[in-house]
Amino acid sequence: MSDRLDGRVAVVAGGAGGIGRAVCRRFVERGARVTVADVAADRTAQTAAECGAERAIGAPVDVVDPDSAARCVAATVERFGRVDYLAYCAGNNIKAPALELTLADWRSQLDIHLTGAFVFCQAVGRRLVAQGEGGRIVLLSSVAAWAPIPQRGAYSPSKAGLVSLAQVLSVEWAEHRINVNAVCPGVAKTPMTDLVYSRDPELKRIRRSRMPIPREVLPDEIADLVVFLCGAGSAYVNGAAIPIDGGFLNSGFMPERKLGDAAEAIHNGGA
Ligand SMILES: NC(=O)c1ccc[n+]([C@@H]2O[C@H](COP(=O)([O-])OP(=O)(O)OC[C@H]3O[C@@H](n4cnc5c(N)ncnc54)[C@H](O)[C@@H]3O)[C@@H](O)[C@H]2O)c1
Repeated sequence: MSDRLDGRVAVVAGGAGGIGRAVCRRFVERGARVTVADVAADRTAQTAAECGAERAIGAPVDVVDPDSAARCVAATVERFGRVDYLAYCAGNNIKAPALELTLADWRSQLDIHLTGAFVFCQAVGRRLVAQGEGGRIVLLSSVAAWAPIPQRGAYSPSKAGLVSLAQVLSVEWAEHRINVNAVCPGVAKTPMTDLVYSRDPELKRIRRSRMPIPREVLPDEIADLVVFLCGAGSAYVNGAAIPIDGGFLNSGFMPERKLGDAAEAIHNGGA
């Protein structure tokens, strides 16, 4: 079975971020064309340029703006003639104790993660239904949907909401041959994670000691899963929330263990 996506077109919201960029690159490697949709205009243009002018356009959008998704779909159709996939990777991450989390910060996270996802699903979904050829939607959730992160009072509810959104749309849109799934990474190796760990090496040690596979997931590994969920091999996967966490969610009873460089290196596999 071919894993090529030739002739297909993807919209990647949050496409200029650490994970979104990897997703854009993977789509293009598999033969699809892509619209990089992100609020960061410079990184959006840069990501589109990396993918190649023939295969990608940049669409500076603010997912909080309710009109942005429809404009993004219109720009994609104008350039590529169609839309087949949505990967929703936009996000932010505000740290605050629940007692001090402001309503503005709560709303910002719910708006960017969940309401933005709904608005993009709706805009892309309308186009997919009009085209009549089905499609795929993948929402970037997190293991935080089930394993709440302290001081992320709005992040975990947003991510749980994305799982629920994927489930409800998967039921409602199956008749249109639109599959909707959520991907739930553990801690990913992104510049943000590197920065956090450089400030707090002990946090890195503690987290890894509780990971069955003691390393972070790579953006390229997440991109592989996202693109798989758009390919022929996943036609019967619908409404799933798939952890990509090295087994972290199942490690509740696993004792904290000491890891040396050697133990970690076994799992790094060139990572
Ligand atoms: N990095 C991790 O460890 C990790 C783990 C699990 C889940 N996730 C989730 O994966 C997704 C991508 O994470 P990442 O690590 O690539 O983060 P990132 O910060 O590198 O990327 C997020 C992107 O979203 C864009 N964005 C933010 N607000 C926007 C808005 N209003 N409109 C349009 N674009 C906007 C940002 O500009 C950025 O490019 C997020 O939803 C995140 O919660 C990340």
